[in-house]
Amino acid sequence: MNERAEQQPDTLSSQTPGGPRHVAIIMDGNGRWATMRGRPRLFGHHAGAKRVREVVEACPDVGVEYLTIFAFSTENWKRTQVEVAGLMSLFRRYIAKETRALGENGVRVRFIGDRVRLDDKLIKLMNDLETATEHNERVHLTIALNYGGRDEVARATKRLAQDVADGRLDPVDVDEETLPRYLDTYVLPDPDLVIRTSGEARISNFLLWQSAYAEYEFIDTLWPDFTREEFARLCASFGGRDRRFGAVKT
Ligand code: IPE
Ligand code: IPE
Ligand code: MG
Repeated sequence: MNERAEQQPDTLSSQTPGGPRHVAIIMDGNGRWATMRGRPRLFGHHAGAKRVREVVEACPDVGVEYLTIFAFSTENWKRTQVEVAGLMSLFRRYIAKETRALGENGVRVRFIGDRVRLDDKLIKLMNDLETATEHNERVHLTIALNYGGRDEVARATKRLAQDVADGRLDPVDVDEETLPRYLDTYVLPDPDLVIRTSGEARISNFLLWQSAYAEYEFIDTLWPDFTREEFARLCASFGGRDRRFGAVKT
């Protein structure tokens, strides 16, 4: 078992009864939002980045302890060089600009995804932000950057296989509790609610393993138009859902 495997999810106490503890959001629709306004796609990405703070700040009010947002997928490299470079520059600027506010608001930031393909300057900003906020626990914000669910499972499997090869793990002991300890999300509880904006009803390789029993909300709002009110409404309606996890209620 590797070192990462020994850490357990934090237990916090501020959860609203019946509300989602962990919400994950596929922030989609920035490009269409910009195109509708006759502007370049990057204009939409900038508008989208501005929405993040509002949603993060709403989390304590609605009892959400963990918020995970999909910022860039392993498939998004297929976009034009201009868009990819613009997004990377936006991420660098966003981190530099938001570090202070995140720290002051008690937000602990973590990144998931494969950092290998990211540039050194961005990786340093990500590491510094994680370190600067590591003692915060009001909201746990996880940013998925160069993240893909399949890629994550493949990387986890590689580390697991290495532990077997090195004699640290016996294949007989591998069960469904084992793999998650090797995933990027090893310290996080599974998402309770996954929201996707922009009207697309697919998950595009997001948190494949972790969302096995998540509830889903696919809403038409484009991400730059998403508000704290809509977030609060979705969290409230989650409370009315009957989650059976395969069992029959008696
Ligand atoms: C989501 O918005 C942001 C990223 C994928 C980086 P899109 O850029 O996918 O916006 P649409 O789907 O083209 O409108
Ligand atoms: C998913 O959105 C990725 C992010 C929100 C970062 P995409 O716009 O890339 O997904 P597809 O291409 O519509 O499946
Ligand atoms: Mg999209």
